[in-house]
Amino acid sequence: MVRDWLKSASSVAVLTGAGISAESGLPTFRGPGGLWRQYRAEDLARPETFARDPKLVWEWYNWRRSVMARAQPNAAHRALAGIEQRSAQFTLITQNVDGLHDAAGSRNVLKVHGDIWTIRCSVCGKERVDRSDPLPELPPRCACGGVERPGVVWFGESLPKDVWAQSEKAARAAELFFVIGTSAVVYPAAGLVGLAKASGAKVVEINIAETPVSAIVDASLRGPASEILPELVQHDV
Ligand code: OAD
Repeated sequence: MVRDWLKSASSVAVLTGAGISAESGLPTFRGPGGLWRQYRAEDLARPETFARDPKLVWEWYNWRRSVMARAQPNAAHRALAGIEQRSAQFTLITQNVDGLHDAAGSRNVLKVHGDIWTIRCSVCGKERVDRSDPLPELPPRCACGGVERPGVVWFGESLPKDVWAQSEKAARAAELFFVIGTSAVVYPAAGLVGLAKASGAKVVEINIAETPVSAIVDASLRGPASEILPELVQHDV
């Protein structure tokens, strides 16, 4: 059924979350291994925490960067890159900051929560890409003297306007919408699922567990994304 939808859809959009990178060895936020030291992501990924203790927040990001630097895309990331190549219109919206969709060859990627390899000055706003692992000095500083921060979106902050507008547009235009490896509890990203559904898309969830959006989707495929996605692509008959 889902294979038929995939074959006939002229416009496909996908929302991914941390679960798609789990089999690349990256811990999810709300599953086992979701804590760093004793902290939860919701407490660290906040402008107030950064203002109070930039070194602590950077230590977390430095650790995450080092895990991500060693991670390779898995079969699920690669399958999505393959679907993109064969789709007339394809948009990959990701909450992930790890860059693994790019590494797998996906092209039209919208990073609604930013990119961990980008660093931005909290004073002058200048951005730069820095993949060094580890960062030599914490917190890193801009040439202007300001403290730099990770180029990601934190709780309580707005999503990048353009990226979000394009994400909503893709969700509205999608004939087929996949929601993959996300607990679908963090808004506004999770709202794209309802938007796609209300705009007429068939919605397919791929997750090892039930989520709050499971009740509204047209099909739930239970299992690891790295097994289910390649199967969908391989049996393309
Ligand atoms: P979560 O950690 O909340 O959820 C991961 C989801 O992936 C869960 O629903 C798991 O059941 C599922 N999962 C785990 N392994 C899987 C696998 N192999 N195949 C398929 N599904 C699997 O991660 P997100 O939903 O991405 O935001 O979290 C959303 C946001 O909360 C993140 O972008 C981040 C976080 O705090 C910010 O930092 C702003």
